[in-house]
Amino acid sequence: MANVNTHNQIFPFRLRQVTEQAARASFSWIGRGQKEKGDEAAVEAMWQALKGLKLEGTVIIGEGEKDQASKLYKGEHFGEESDGETFDIAVDPVEGTTFLAKGLTNAMAAVAIAPRYTILDPGPAFYMEKFAGPPELRGRIDMEWTVEKKLNTAAALLEKEMNALTVFVLDKPRHRNLVESIYEAGARVALYPAGDIAGALMAATPDTEIDLLMGTGGVPEGIISACAIRAMGGEFLGRLDPQLPTEIVRLREAGMDTSHWYDRDELIRSDEVHFCATGITSGLLFEGIEKSRHFLTSQTLIINGSNQERLMLTNWHRIT
Ligand code: FBP
Repeated sequence: MANVNTHNQIFPFRLRQVTEQAARASFSWIGRGQKEKGDEAAVEAMWQALKGLKLEGTVIIGEGEKDQASKLYKGEHFGEESDGETFDIAVDPVEGTTFLAKGLTNAMAAVAIAPRYTILDPGPAFYMEKFAGPPELRGRIDMEWTVEKKLNTAAALLEKEMNALTVFVLDKPRHRNLVESIYEAGARVALYPAGDIAGALMAATPDTEIDLLMGTGGVPEGIISACAIRAMGGEFLGRLDPQLPTEIVRLREAGMDTSHWYDRDELIRSDEVHFCATGITSGLLFEGIEKSRHFLTSQTLIINGSNQERLMLTNWHRIT
């Protein structure tokens, strides 16, 4: 079963089916106010598509634990046990479930596949403080610095005026001080209600309208972003930043260090990581699913960690 060769040009191209099918399945739930339904449809389709890949792998980042999710739960095993190559799987069938339900921007389906035991298992952690930026910043920003010093250093490395620097931040009350500090430093803030995988990838991609991502969002989204950014090149750092009282207790009980800034390469320990994401609703990275009389059209970003190639694929799926 595990005879899948991921070290070639074909595998990342096949991986696109996993997110394309999830995005297509959730399309009919856009703007219907039922986020669970949209998520369920995407989970089912993604699960079927992953099975169809016929690789042997274990879900590390998924839809919660087995008792909360019947499919794509953390620890779910795909394929038959064999002596062949095995993989870690990170999935987010719908990144931005609320925004899918509200018909708003930046909902997408995302997946990352890497060799077994290379994607960090975040245990019970739910929130992570994140920093993302383009390759010029790799290893050059100290997270102990003030916001102003980080931005000054980033502007210098990117050869930009401070007033032209744009930082993606999730529009959340917890970011009030961060946003104030960015304004005081003289940079711009792009506030988005959701979708920090898109924000992190835009930040890591040189020459986009987003230069950096800062602030706290979900851990699964953080680890999937790290996978994509290692595959394409770029900076990503993350620190567990529990927001909920229960999460604080669980992290303490698990002995997890909330002061440690994980480097990108601690979050994903292999270059052989592949990433795909398909737009559900239109956003920063790509167009969402569009329906015409005969076709559903999807846009998928494919990143091949073997050669850092990035492809944007538009696919016309005939409606049968
Ligand atoms: P969901 O798919 O769970 O709705 O997540 C969307 C998202 O905006 C992520 O992009 C982000 O990392 C996280 O939620 C932030 O969580 P919260 O909205 O609880 O602050």
